[in-house]
Amino acid sequence: MNLQKIHDFAIKTILDAGEQIRDSFSKELIIETKASANDLVTNIDRNIEQFFVDKIKNLDPSHKILGEEGMGDKIRSLDGPLWIIDPIDGTMNFIKQGRNFMISIGFFIDGAGKLGYLYDVMRDELIYAIRGEGAFLGKQPLGKLQPMTIEEAIIGINSSWVIPNGKINHEKITKLIKTVRGTRSYGSAAMEIALVVTGKLDAYLSMRLAPWDIGGGTVIAQEVGAAVSNLKGEPVNLLTQDTFLIANPSIHQVLLDQYIELKEEKQHSK
Ligand code: IPD
Ligand code: CA
Ligand code: CA
Ligand code: CA
Repeated sequence: MNLQKIHDFAIKTILDAGEQIRDSFSKELIIETKASANDLVTNIDRNIEQFFVDKIKNLDPSHKILGEEGMGDKIRSLDGPLWIIDPIDGTMNFIKQGRNFMISIGFFIDGAGKLGYLYDVMRDELIYAIRGEGAFLGKQPLGKLQPMTIEEAIIGINSSWVIPNGKINHEKITKLIKTVRGTRSYGSAAMEIALVVTGKLDAYLSMRLAPWDIGGGTVIAQEVGAAVSNLKGEPVNLLTQDTFLIANPSIHQVLLDQYIELKEEKQHSK
C-alpha cells in the first residue's frame, strides 16, 4: 500500500476520532487512576485508542500498533510498519479544562518516521507531515524554523523543574530560566511539540516522556528542521521512556552544552 493511501486513511480516521471526542462531552465520563493519583485515564482515552486499533487492523492486519492504553500490540522492536498512538495527550486537561489536549500519531517503517499527526481536537487544527514532502498546518505548508538566539527563546518547561530533584544541575536550569524571554507549561507534550514545530515555542524539555507522547511529533520535527534528542543529546528511542528535548536547531546544542546537565543515576547498593 502506498504512503499517500495510508496518509488519506490517517487523516480521515483522526478527524473521525476528534468528532467522537467532541461528542463525548455530552456523555458520561468515567475517570480512573493508573500508576498514581495524578495519572488519569478515562473511558474516552480507551474508546478512542480502540477505535484507532480497529481501523488500522481493518486497513492492514500486518501493521503493528503501540498505544498508550495497551489496546495495540506488545512491541519489542521497530521492525516493519508501526503506528505509535496517544489517543488523548493531556488527559488531565481533557478532564479539567475540556481543551488543551491532542491526538498524537506517528507511522514508522523499520523505525523511520514516515507520517506524523498532531491534532488539536477542540481548535480543530491538524498539523501533519509526510516524510520528504514537508509539514503542514491544515493546508498551509510549515516553513523551516528560522535562526534565533537563546535570549529570544520562549521555552516549554514543567514547573516541577524549579524544585531541586537531584536529577539535573539545578543552577544551570535556573540560569536558563533567567536567560530566556519566557517559559510556558501546557500539560500536553504533543501540544508543546506542536508549538515548537510551528515556531510558537522555541524549545520544550521534559524529564520523562513515553514513545506515544513524541512519536507523531518527531516525524513533523524532521520536516521543519526542529532538533530532537534526549537530554543527553542522544537520538530518541521509540521503545522506551526517556528524557526529551525538541528545539529550534540554532539553540538545541546551546541548551545541551550550557544549560542542561543530567546527574548520573546513583547505583543501587546491594
Ligand atoms: C502526559 C502529557 C504531559 C506530560 C506527561 C504525559 P497523557 O500525557 O503529555 O504533558 O508531562 O509526561 O504522560 O498521559 O496525558 O497522555
Ligand atoms: Ca496517560
Ligand atoms: Ca501522552
Ligand atoms: Ca494519553
